[in-house]
Amino acid sequence: MGTSLKPDLFQGFSKLSREQRFARLFEMGAVTREDIQFLNEGGIKDFSLAENFIENVIGYFQLPLGVATNFVIDGVEMVIPMAVEETSIIAAASKTAKWIREHGEITTKSLGHLIIGQIQIAKVQNFEKFASLVEYHQQSLINEANRQVSKNMVERGGGVKEIQIRRIPRGDGEDMAILHVLADPCDAMGANIMNQVCEFLKTPIEEITGEKVTMCILSNLVDTKLTQAQVRLRGLDPELCVRIQEASLFAQQDPYRAATNNKGVLNGIDPILIATGNDWRAVEAGIHAYAARSGQYRSITKWQYINEELVGTFIAPLVVGTVGGVTKLHPTAQICLNMLNVENASQLSRVMAAVGLVQNLGALRALTTVGIIEGHMKLHIKNLTLGAGASEDEQAYVQGKLEEILKLKKRISLHNAVEVLNELRSRNVFSK
Ligand code: MEV
Repeated sequence: MGTSLKPDLFQGFSKLSREQRFARLFEMGAVTREDIQFLNEGGIKDFSLAENFIENVIGYFQLPLGVATNFVIDGVEMVIPMAVEETSIIAAASKTAKWIREHGEITTKSLGHLIIGQIQIAKVQNFEKFASLVEYHQQSLINEANRQVSKNMVERGGGVKEIQIRRIPRGDGEDMAILHVLADPCDAMGANIMNQVCEFLKTPIEEITGEKVTMCILSNLVDTKLTQAQVRLRGLDPELCVRIQEASLFAQQDPYRAATNNKGVLNGIDPILIATGNDWRAVEAGIHAYAARSGQYRSITKWQYINEELVGTFIAPLVVGTVGGVTKLHPTAQICLNMLNVENASQLSRVMAAVGLVQNLGALRALTTVGIIEGHMKLHIKNLTLGAGASEDEQAYVQGKLEEILKLKKRISLHNAVEVLNELRSRNVFSK
């Protein structure tokens, strides 16, 4: 996993030109000359790929692609590709990763490897009989699904492993029976194969039990396959650590804060999901459902100051793939996966968990010290300047003025940018 890069190759990275960044990434072994050429030429142009993916194609939607630097995950230096439009996410991730490498470490692990498919019997006639018949035929159902549908997964060491039976009240005095089909998808995200397995099992289950299957689909609440990341930091200002712990408690206990906290975590995860061609809606749904598993929506991260160590933990389902679908077919996703140099889907999900946790720490550090405006809006000034319509000649002046206003008023808006620009133009400084 990761590249064999030297940390000093990250030195001053954000100040480099795009060409210089490519040169550094090339030196790190994170990109090839072909990758650089492809990205420099604006990426994917061929519409046949889009036509293969979706219907009624009219074009491609482009997002900025950047790299977060300074990450050492499980002792390995990594360059993190992120496709995202929000200012300051990559800067905050890189800055926080640098802080972590100076004061501690990031470790990750996978907890479980099975994904879940659901089969609903909406009106079960006799739950006990249904359950005992499924139980009795469980192994033959699994064997048949593995032989007929998930053969490839079995060959890679995965496949269907177990069928669980659940009884759920309908709310009208009767029950539904729900089967959970558990399978190991190896390096695939597994959605397609799981849906095929469940649909295949529909007929034999109906024949064996005499009950009627209503629907089959995978579940995104994959609590059987969780990803954990942990950050441990030492030698920090104890007051700061206590503030971060308090901020974390806020997000654990209050769903209003938990939503924003988790959004900040996803700021680190979604851009990697997109850059690697993974299904970010599935991961989002799974993470939010997991965050609400106690009946109250809570933070998916937790920060504690224990024995002079600040310890942060992320645990949530993060089911991704490194083979299949867009991941393999989209050339930019391939470049990003190669950049990460992960060997399998589990490693990819662990990287995402780590970046999500680091992003969360960056936000909490800012929120409990200088506030979000300073870090966020300073970088936002550039966008406001462009948004106001400043030409290349005008940009430096407008940005400088906006920085002064921010310092003075602690607030900045597009209105300020437009005012500064109008004032500049009224003096005809750059007009010919
Ligand atoms: C903004 O995109 C993300 C934050 O709101 C996250 C947080 O509040 O923890 C800064």
